[in-house]
Parts: sequence; C-alpha cells; structure tokens
Amino acid sequence: MKTIMITGCSSGFGLDIARYFLDRQWRVIATMRAPREDILPASERLRVVPLDVTKAAGIEQSVATAGPIDVLVNNAGIGFLNPLEGTPMATARDVFETNTLGTIAMTRAVLPQMRERKSGVIVNVTSSVTLKSLPLLSVYTASKAAVNAFTESLAFELQPFGIRAVLVLPGRAPQTKFGDNARARMQDGFPEPYKAIVEGVFAGWQKDSLTTDSRAVTEAVWRAATDPSCPMRVPAGADAEALFASAK
Ligand SMILES: NC(=O)c1ccc[n+]([C@@H]2O[C@H](COP(=O)([O-])OP(=O)(O)OC[C@H]3O[C@@H](n4cnc5c(N)ncnc54)[C@H](OP(=O)(O)O)[C@@H]3O)[C@@H](O)[C@H]2O)c1
Repeated sequence: MKTIMITGCSSGFGLDIARYFLDRQWRVIATMRAPREDILPASERLRVVPLDVTKAAGIEQSVATAGPIDVLVNNAGIGFLNPLEGTPMATARDVFETNTLGTIAMTRAVLPQMRERKSGVIVNVTSSVTLKSLPLLSVYTASKAAVNAFTESLAFELQPFGIRAVLVLPGRAPQTKFGDNARARMQDGFPEPYKAIVEGVFAGWQKDSLTTDSRAVTEAVWRAATDPSCPMRVPAGADAEALFASAK
C-alpha cells in the first residue's frame, strides 16, 4: 500500500486530494496547521498530523515519524493580491516562507528516505499565474515561479535516484478558501493610485468563463503521483489548460 503525505489539508485542494487518495486505497498522511479529524472520512489508512510548513522543527518531526513516504504533495500555500506598493515586506516574506521555502523545506526533509529506497515522487502545486502574468500578483507569482524553477532543476538531480519531481499548475478556483484567506491578509486595502488597475482586474474575473474545479487538481495530482510518464508541468482546470496550450 502506497503512502502520500499532503500539506495544507484543512480546506480546498489539499482536503480533496486527501479524500481522493483515501478513496483509492492509499495510506494518507493529511497534514494541517490546526488538525481536524472530522473533515475527512474515518479510516485506518488516515493519519491527521499537525504541520506548519514554516516551522523547521515540526517538519523534521512529522517526516521522521511518518514512516516511508511514497509521494509528497506540497500543496500548502497562501495568496496575496495587491500592487507591490501595497505589499508590506512582512507579507512578502510570509508568502515566500510558506509557498517557496515551505516547499523547499518539506522536500529536503523527505529526500533522504526516498533516495535510499530509490523511489518517490514530489508533487509541487504552483499556479497558472506563472504561465501568464497578471497585475497585483507580483509577489505571489514570484513565490510560485520560484517553485517552478526549483522543481525543474531538482528533477534532474533526482532522476538518477528514481525520484520524480512534478509540477501541478491549477487555474483560478473561487470555490476554495484561498480568496477568503488572502483577503484576511489584505485589510489595509489598495493604494489609491492603483484604483483603476484593481477595478480592471476584478472586472476581468467577472467576465472569465473558465475557472478551475478542485476535481481537476486532484486528478492532476493523481496523474503526477502515479504515472511515471507524466510531463514535468501538468495544468489543472479549464482556464489553466487553455493558458498552457497558448503558452506553448
Ligand atoms: N484557489 C486558487 O485559485 C488557486 C489557484 C492556483 C493555485 N492555488 C494553490 O493551490 C494550493 C491550495 O490552495 P487552495 O485553493 O486549496 O486554498 P485554501 O483552501 O486556502 O488552502 C490552503 C491550505 O494551505 C494551508 N496553509 C497555509 N499556510 C500554511 C502553513 N504555513 N503551513 C501549513 N499549511 C498552511 C491552509 O491551512 P490553514 O487552514 O491553516 O490556513 C490550507 O489548508 C495553494 O498552494 C495555492 O497557492 C490556488
């Protein structure tokens, strides 16, 4: 029986990925900052583990006690939408600490056991905003583009050890808690000179006919985890797939 460890399972894609793999008879280590057993179906194959990807000691401990991990999904992430002038440096650091350094730290922690077993898959969830840039997302996009570059370089050095590293790039998924979680970080509002740009971005989203369903993300992660011929970048969701095709 294979084991998957997933970060950020309290809501959204992470929660759905955990359910999807449980349904397919995997052993699932669902990690959350504030663990809740009741949001996933009870199962002997499920472990809910406290984990904040910005806390080094917790990462070491949860990986050390997890047993063999076949697949790590770095899904935990935070968003922030604002012009750079409205982005405090503390927020920029938080975004990189979670999205970029959290992913690097988790990956580093699982690699020794995967290298020794000569097998394993790292799945890093980034974003379709790295395929086509949008205004107001400079710091968020940079944090995810760094993970793309990190993963693509890492894949080469892991190949001789039978370990794959794959990127899943979801499009915009308004049904997860991502937007609400990001808004909680945006209480200071937008700088006045950027009002027209902000209004333009929101108006553009109203007109978007294509978005991403969480199911597309879980299926992309499944493919990344189970298909050795999976390409390096897997777009997830109708909007991401359209962007990916036009970026080729
Ligand atoms: N929704 C979108 O439009 C979209 C589009 C492209 C990519 N993505 C990416 O997809 C991933 C999942 O997002 P989502 O849409 O499912 O959003 P979500 O519902 O907000 O889920 C994000 C998860 O990350 C967790 N998290 C945040 N900071 C963490 C930390 N320091 N340590 C551990 N866990 C942490 C959250 O936990 P708490 O409950 O503790 O905050 C939550 O479980 C993110 O990496 C995001 O950047 C999302």
